[in-house]
Amino acid sequence: MVQFENEVAVVTGGGSGIGRATAEAFAREGARVVVSDVDVEGGEETVSRIEENGGVAIFVEADVTDEDAVAAMVETAVSEYGRLDFACNNAGIGGAQKPTADLSFDEWERTIDVNLHGVWRSMRYEIPAMLDGDGGVIVNMSSILGRVGFENASAYVTAKHGLLGLTKTAAIEYAQKGIRVNAVCPGFIDTPLLSEGGLDEPEARTGIESLHPMNRLGSVDEVASAVVWLCSDGASFTTGEALTVDGGYTSR
Ligand code: NAI
Repeated sequence: MVQFENEVAVVTGGGSGIGRATAEAFAREGARVVVSDVDVEGGEETVSRIEENGGVAIFVEADVTDEDAVAAMVETAVSEYGRLDFACNNAGIGGAQKPTADLSFDEWERTIDVNLHGVWRSMRYEIPAMLDGDGGVIVNMSSILGRVGFENASAYVTAKHGLLGLTKTAAIEYAQKGIRVNAVCPGFIDTPLLSEGGLDEPEARTGIESLHPMNRLGSVDEVASAVVWLCSDGASFTTGEALTVDGGYTSR
């Protein structure tokens, strides 16, 4: 028995890592999925994987810093599948790894543009599409770095903290209009993103693992299942929540 039959999900950054696992998880639950990414090869690979497992998905190339592309992504959900029920705003980058005062404005702005403005841009189109239908659920991909600081990552940390404010505010605004808005705050997850900061090197990886009381990284499926739960009827009274999935990192 699947729980999202006849429903439609959009996943940004669906061509890799957490986004791919989330797109696949939505499809396993019966949703038709719009997989969106700047990475065409990765996005198409996700669609192939879903189709090989009997699911339904379509790829839309969209850079979340490009408003027209984001509008077209949401339009595709409606034109292809007739509705939009779920959106996981997941596309993100690590950005430049430098102390705060060493960042150039362009480095700062790029990280904020993808990780924070990109989510707001997506919500600007997702919310009207959901209001036109039966409502829906939005899940924004924040991070434990939306809760605590981390050296050499001030723009990323700022964007991820900002996402929680955006999530809570939109949750209030649309609570009586059938839209729930939540966030997930993962600890360090084993994805290609880690290599951006050199955190996939064995010594750095061991150090990062040890920051989690479970002494390991999380898996993409452990994050995807949190997204699916937030979209499910079991979470029908949950909105404005930031669900931490971090092996205990922020409990220290
Ligand atoms: P990833 O690098 O495997 O996947 C990110 C995807 O986003 C890639 O497919 C990439 O092409 C896409 N993307 C990047 N810039 C984009 C843009 N401008 N427009 C559209 N797509 C774009 O990384 P991962 O780890 O799966 O990250 C997914 C999200 O999870 C990000 O928002 C990240 O900040 C967040 N996150 C990741 C953690 C980790 O340890 N891996 C921990 C906490 C949060």
